[in-house]
Amino acid sequence: MAHDKPNGGLKDKVAVMNRTGMGMSPVDGEQMLQGARDGVPSTAGSGAGMTTVREQYIAERTGIGSMPPPTTLKGAAKAAVALAQNQRPNVFLDRLGERLAFERTGVRLYDALLSHISVLQDKTLGPTPQELRTIREEEHRHFELLRNTIETLGADPTVQTPAADAVSVETMGILQILTDPRSSRSACLHAILVVELADNDGWKMLIEMARGLGHEDIVARFEQAAREEEQHLQKVRGWYSAQMNADMKEGRVGVDA
Ligand SMILES: [Fe+2]
Ligand SMILES: [Fe+2]
Repeated sequence: MAHDKPNGGLKDKVAVMNRTGMGMSPVDGEQMLQGARDGVPSTAGSGAGMTTVREQYIAERTGIGSMPPPTTLKGAAKAAVALAQNQRPNVFLDRLGERLAFERTGVRLYDALLSHISVLQDKTLGPTPQELRTIREEEHRHFELLRNTIETLGADPTVQTPAADAVSVETMGILQILTDPRSSRSACLHAILVVELADNDGWKMLIEMARGLGHEDIVARFEQAAREEEQHLQKVRGWYSAQMNADMKEGRVGVDA
């Protein structure tokens, strides 16, 4: 595939030698060990002290965010009905917010994966850019489904719920891998595999919650999304497995030929 590549392109790249192991320089390694033995901590205290402080903060926590009160009449009415039925719709709304954030990021993650696969395409292993575009569109549709569902429940889809906040932090590492130009095909496929595993469980949990709240109309729509997520997972597993088999055969680690 033709690409304008900065700095002469991928063919001119020089593999950086891995010097992380002490075995690369036994003399320096021994000196480093001696330094660790001789060294004394620059401050008083120990790891145990750190654990104590961490636990104090946990005991005094205020939590990550909260759910806002309903801002529409429809939302207030639905919340009142739910409360009368002894239901706690906020837990469901929190998780809907989480999935919404995840699916929105998922679209961007597939965009980033598409860039890698477009440059490093391997027709014998897959995926093709078109296969990734199809999944990306489904992730986008799932985002829209969640947005509509939250609105139907009288809530505000622009709210950053506590679970949405937490899941955004969780996905930061995946985002870093997929937007790092140095990441190999196998690293990218593994990162997207983690995404799809979490996505599959996320939808199953939502279906369980919707069923518990008696939202059968939502269950039916979410089951369709869950079926699509199951297909995503199967495809990504297949691509990752093919990649690893090829890497094993060619002894390829870290850099794609
Ligand atoms: Fe998804
Ligand atoms: Fe997915």
